[in-house]
Amino acid sequence: PFLTVLLCAAAYLGGSVLFAIPVSRAFKLPDPRALGSTNPGATNVFRSGGWMPAALTLLLDAGKGWLPVWTAQQWGLSTTLQAAVALCAVTGHMIPVFYHFRGGKGVATALGAGLALAHTTTLLMAAIWLLAMWRWRISAMASLVAVLSGPLLSAMLQPHTLPMFSLLALLVLVRHRNNLIRMAQGRETRF
Ligand code: G3P
Repeated sequence: PFLTVLLCAAAYLGGSVLFAIPVSRAFKLPDPRALGSTNPGATNVFRSGGWMPAALTLLLDAGKGWLPVWTAQQWGLSTTLQAAVALCAVTGHMIPVFYHFRGGKGVATALGAGLALAHTTTLLMAAIWLLAMWRWRISAMASLVAVLSGPLLSAMLQPHTLPMFSLLALLVLVRHRNNLIRMAQGRETRF
């Protein structure tokens, strides 16, 4: 239990680093919390700075989800405990201790954690994200379709990860409530 608690705490702290903010600073872009959707995530960094900083944000935010889960695997923790570590990292991103508990939507971090824990399910979710993005050109719509397909895909392919994908879907859905309102009103930005 000590190792699990330690890793959960580390995953939460790592998750609390919102890479959109230092990456934007490094690229001399405005703070992502002050423009566009005001969300500190790769999508909003894309709005201010284009592909390069957005891809870097995505990579780093995914990495902070992947690394603790990978470490849990190296330490021989059970799938349930790996899933708990994954949720700690995503929670860190959503309610970060370093930014007054005002965080992001957790999609990239969930992607990284998912890739470490259940790559078949997660790669299919990523493919669904791309398809949905191609169809609707709305990042939040693609994220929601992808993340909500997680429970279904994991139930079919990797059922031991169903509880984690269900919780992730719920958390990510709740974090997109403003996007859902904007979509309902037809005000969500298209790419
Ligand atoms: O993953 C975040 C994305 O789904 C929505 O981002 O900036 O459009 O609210 P944003």
